[in-house]
Amino acid sequence: MTVAGADRIDPSRSTAVPELEVTGVAKSFGAVAALRNASLTVYSGEVVGLLGDNGAGKSTFVRCITGRLHPDSGTIKVAGEEKRIRSPEVARALGIEVVHQDLALVNSLDVAANLFMGREIVHGAGFFSRLGLLKKRDMRKQAQAVLEQVGVKLPSVSATVGDLSGGQRQGIAVGRAVAWGQRVVLMDEPAAALGVEQAQHVLDLIRRLRDQGIAVVMISHNMEHVLKVCDRVVVMRRGESIGSARVPEVTGEMLVGFITGAIPIPDAAQVPSSSERMT
Ligand SMILES: Nc1ncnc2c1ncn2[C@@H]1O[C@H](COP(=O)(O)OP(=O)(O)O)[C@@H](O)[C@H]1O
Ligand SMILES: [Mg+2]
Repeated sequence: MTVAGADRIDPSRSTAVPELEVTGVAKSFGAVAALRNASLTVYSGEVVGLLGDNGAGKSTFVRCITGRLHPDSGTIKVAGEEKRIRSPEVARALGIEVVHQDLALVNSLDVAANLFMGREIVHGAGFFSRLGLLKKRDMRKQAQAVLEQVGVKLPSVSATVGDLSGGQRQGIAVGRAVAWGQRVVLMDEPAAALGVEQAQHVLDLIRRLRDQGIAVVMISHNMEHVLKVCDRVVVMRRGESIGSARVPEVTGEMLVGFITGAIPIPDAAQVPSSSERMT
């Protein structure tokens, strides 16, 4: 077993361009200001934990980044280029995948159809594609392979998603993001409905994404999970990102303190690394 971060270069300390750089996002629903000033930077090969109490704005932030909501203001840069992510399709085309807190599955469709939603393998061109005929057999085979990788046990990839358990449904949503993620993967409480063993599997998948150079954002209320896989955390409160810390330098108790406000959180730029602190 390797200690997370011990033998790796800290990507956030390099001069590389971040895969995702979100600055000053605001989003209101009528009179409710869900986001006031939310920012987040993630580098290739980095796992950033997005933390905050219920209602802090985490899910709204993720929806604004992945095209499900349109932010009122703020900028999103992907690999250094400013982008307007008008829809989930645009996010996908940019290599950004997401596991939404509500999973965003279509209950009336089967597992394979959910895994391929929005990018069905089309059988032939022209006439057939206009009819929307899909190579069902290929989709099922690939769906099976994806689910095996994620460790989700299902009766069949032809099962209707609405008939499955919460854990199975969450596994499908995670599998979909992991399978298609090219550049950035955001996961909004990906292990919330999972048992201990399957949750560990998801943490392993996150590490694997990181090792492939993908930038990962994970929202979790489980501090043990955060300490296990995250390189850095960004803490949100009342719609604002209020600070950031490097995980090897914090404890679970400190994280809870940052979230509740009991402990002031410094900005990452001002957090000296452990080695700097020792001198
Ligand atoms: N569609 C919506 N309409 C109205 N208010 C919303 C909507 N979505 C989120 N909110 C509000 O925005 C705030 C942030 O919510 P959310 O992003 O879900 O927080 P978190 O994921 O951190 O728990 C909450 O006060 C929530 O009630
Ligand atoms: Mg949420």
